[in-house]
Amino acid sequence: MNNKISQHRILNSGKISRRKTPRLFARQDSMCQPKVFIQTFGCQMNKYDSEVMKSLLLKEGYEFTDNWQEADVILVNTCSVRQHAEERVYAYLWKWSKYKQETKPNLIIGICGCMAQKEGMNILNKIPHLNLVCGTYSIPRIHEFVKDLLKTGGRRIEISEDYTDFPPPVHEARETKISAWVAIMRGCNNYCAYCVVPYVRGREISRSVEEIENEVKELARKGIKEVTFLGQNVNSYNIKNKISKIKNDFALLLKRINDINGIERIRFTTSHPKDMSQATIEAIRDLPKVCEHIHIALQSGSDKILKLMNRKYTREQYKELVEKIRKTIPKVSITTDIMVGFPTETEDDFMDTYNLVKEIEFDASYIFKYSPRPGTKAAEFKDDVPEEIKQERLNKLLSLQKRIVQKQNEELIGKEVEILVGCHILKDKSKYFGKTRNFKPVSFQSDKDLTGKLVRVKITEIRGGLLEGVLASQN
Ligand code: 5AD
Ligand code: SF4
Repeated sequence: MNNKISQHRILNSGKISRRKTPRLFARQDSMCQPKVFIQTFGCQMNKYDSEVMKSLLLKEGYEFTDNWQEADVILVNTCSVRQHAEERVYAYLWKWSKYKQETKPNLIIGICGCMAQKEGMNILNKIPHLNLVCGTYSIPRIHEFVKDLLKTGGRRIEISEDYTDFPPPVHEARETKISAWVAIMRGCNNYCAYCVVPYVRGREISRSVEEIENEVKELARKGIKEVTFLGQNVNSYNIKNKISKIKNDFALLLKRINDINGIERIRFTTSHPKDMSQATIEAIRDLPKVCEHIHIALQSGSDKILKLMNRKYTREQYKELVEKIRKTIPKVSITTDIMVGFPTETEDDFMDTYNLVKEIEFDASYIFKYSPRPGTKAAEFKDDVPEEIKQERLNKLLSLQKRIVQKQNEELIGKEVEILVGCHILKDKSKYFGKTRNFKPVSFQSDKDLTGKLVRVKITEIRGGLLEGVLASQN
């Protein structure tokens, strides 16, 4: 892991020829702002970081495009969690690098986020026409780097581990006018054996409750109806400025945000099973705006594998937690992450996972094949489960989960659910789409524009695995 480079800067490495009069500056003089294209890989936190980048660049007057061939600056915000994601990023970088060499020599190409933080100099060495490597902690300065590179056309690497501040709120770049992400904490202290996140996103830091409250109030003023709190471990959120001496800080944060006028729904992701407190479970039950959906990653149903993964709970403890949540919160939905093919996973270990999924009946499972991540503890183990076995186990779990969801959806037919209307479906302007409180996607017809409204929909059928219904009433 190349985490040792700190605020290291290389300009004009010689691999890219410098122009004496940069063309892009000439464009700015003629009032034509450089156009930026951002491509994002990975989790919601990455999408949020891309919103931060967009917001900072919009403030400086840059324009944005959805077409990379129109762009003067291409930024890719990356994910390192699985090897496959990294391979895709390299494929894009090669394509853009070739395009720059053959067609657009002034193009600025930058890689940001987790891969940049992890690989540093290696990427700059691998991709000949890359201009910028910007780690996770340096994203709040992206506008400075872009400005500098547009002037110089040089190469620059910005990787810092000195990250104590949160990026500024990102109101300019919200993609929808209905829902917004709000990062409440960052980083992770858990060091699960397979996971690169603690190395690329650093130690846990939480924002103050006042700052979050102000951001959500501002969002509510702008018409946002739903906020989703983001963090690698939201339920270990810790209030620095001591509004409470008790340890249930996340529950307290939920309560404070629940009181903000204009916000209709509050969601959060993602939670670690070991940190899910009774106070948080009760807050979800008692606070009217907090939606009944909890994402708690299981990863494996085998005690042996959980221990090797350093997950700090057993199969039995996870089951007890699910029972407690279901007993406390009526109609709650529970979703999870599962990994197959972790080193030494036998058929029996896998069946422990399979049987637990069958027993719990999650509302959704995100299932991944294990891939070793250099620098993590698990990368020292032999990756001994063959690819075909990983694929077979993945397929078995996917089809089990599909059957579970089909059964849950069938039980909803004839029932009324509350939907926050998000958007209409592109192909059919009279068809709207939204989610139930417990995160099930539903579509329905309406001649009236109901975007942003809470409506009640009666579920009538399942089409292509998705719930469809008819409008029953508008709140
Ligand atoms: N290989 C495969 N999946 C992984 N995840 C994290 N690290 C790895 C890895 N090395 C999965 C976990 C996590 C989700 C975000 O990605 O299931 O919860
Ligand atoms: Fe990774 Fe584990 Fe932290 Fe989640 S809790 S980000 S899986 S180290």
